[in-house]
Amino acid sequence: MRVNASAGSKQARLSETRGGVTVVVLAAGKGVRMNSRIPKVLHPVAGRPMLLWSMVAARVLDPERTLVVTNPSQDGIQAALNGEGQTVPQREQLGTGHALSQVSAEHRTTGPVIVLYADAPLLRGETLKRLLAEHRASEAAVTLLTAMLDDPRGYGRIIRARNGVFRRIVEEKDASDAEKQIHEINSGVYCFRGRDLWPALQKLENKNRAHEYYLTDVVALIKGKLDTMLVGDAREILGINDRRQLAQAEHIMRERILDDLMLRGVTITDPGSTFVDADVSIGQDTVIHPFSTITGHSVVGQDCVLGPMTQIRDSTLGDGCRAERSHLEHVKIASNVAIGPFSRLRPGTELAEGVHIGTHTEIKNSKIGAGSAVPHFSYLGDAVVGANVNIGAGSITANWDGFEKNVTEIGDGVYVSCDTIFVAPVRVGSDATTAADTVVTKDVPAGSLAIGRADMKIVEGYTARRRARRNASKAAKK
Ligand code: UD1
Ligand code: CA
Repeated sequence: MRVNASAGSKQARLSETRGGVTVVVLAAGKGVRMNSRIPKVLHPVAGRPMLLWSMVAARVLDPERTLVVTNPSQDGIQAALNGEGQTVPQREQLGTGHALSQVSAEHRTTGPVIVLYADAPLLRGETLKRLLAEHRASEAAVTLLTAMLDDPRGYGRIIRARNGVFRRIVEEKDASDAEKQIHEINSGVYCFRGRDLWPALQKLENKNRAHEYYLTDVVALIKGKLDTMLVGDAREILGINDRRQLAQAEHIMRERILDDLMLRGVTITDPGSTFVDADVSIGQDTVIHPFSTITGHSVVGQDCVLGPMTQIRDSTLGDGCRAERSHLEHVKIASNVAIGPFSRLRPGTELAEGVHIGTHTEIKNSKIGAGSAVPHFSYLGDAVVGANVNIGAGSITANWDGFEKNVTEIGDGVYVSCDTIFVAPVRVGSDATTAADTVVTKDVPAGSLAIGRADMKIVEGYTARRRARRNASKAAKK
């Protein structure tokens, strides 16, 4: 195959190492060892599908193109990529070398081709940058990222000549006992010179125990200088093949995220019991207490105190908020809001500045105005509550009539006494009051009092009469 007409000239050699970078992410594998119905590369690590970690790392290189080799029969990959990169289908999973050979002629550039495996989410963009720089400096035909592992089981081993020159990679399945003793492993991150890669790939065979086309074999088929670069932190190259490795990756990633947050001025009292996803942002001087998780695309402001035992998912919190032993999901909270302990804020809830949510309160799809309080044992669903409203203990909205959800509107400054039930749809005008134990079944005009309960009766001498009756019956039995 003729790849470059002027491949011999100095000029061409320069463009082959210095030209635009092509990144190829291999993501089509079966992931058998995961024992899952979900494609391996979609399993999340710190809240992000594994595959996206490779995409994020690759971005650092500012590549000319990023190709993702995918299995067209696996669902959800396109959605996860969300338009990033160009997919290349691999219809049959015949090995990593076969996966790379699916790249079509138009994308077979002569310049640097970086190949990544989508099951290695811990790889840092900075490491890729160093690899590319090393590749450009040495003008090698391939520069391989290797690592030294105490326990190299499961990885391809790096075979070197006596003088230390890198020769080839042997897969564990095909390794001799002596080769299995080698601790230097193939990370699965390669920087090839395109000119040398594509012709060598054509020559690949599947004569090995697994009968797969191994990308690792292409290295020995390449005519030209072979170079290696040892990764600084061996934890970066962890490949996820099963769920034990998934848990390891999660653990390492979590440490990284928490370290970064702490260096940016967030206090985490117990990193061992705190979980924060990669796409969460948290402001300065916020304190997170133990057994708390902040996940999804949450944004937390400055000077907040969260936890202990608080779960926040895909929510936004302003500055100076507190949330203790509570669950927040898809909610929007302004500044200086206090929540909990033991409250649950469900999707669509919006709390304005200075709202106070106390204990055992559930709020769903409701807006609560500034300075309002829902301090104890309440349920508000589909409610629009104004500013400076007090919702007394035990008050609830009856928003579901068995057929549909109905809205309760409560104006500014309303005083809701304990145990009020709002039978929606219903409106309460501003500055109105409801008496305790009122069932609000019709609209309440502004400034008025709604009392909707049976009058209290007093039965005088009741206790004495009961006592006398009991004593009389005891005496009769004797
Ligand atoms: C591979 C390497 C091994 C290296 C290790 C690092 C080969 C032959 N072996 O082994 O030397 O030490 O990674 O983690 O390359 N894939 C496809 N199509 C396929 C097969 C795989 O796209 O037909 C993708 C997978 O989705 C995965 C990646 O390639 O992201 C690696 O495949 P995997 O089967 O996990 O390779 P390992 O056995 O881990
Ligand atoms: Ca792997």
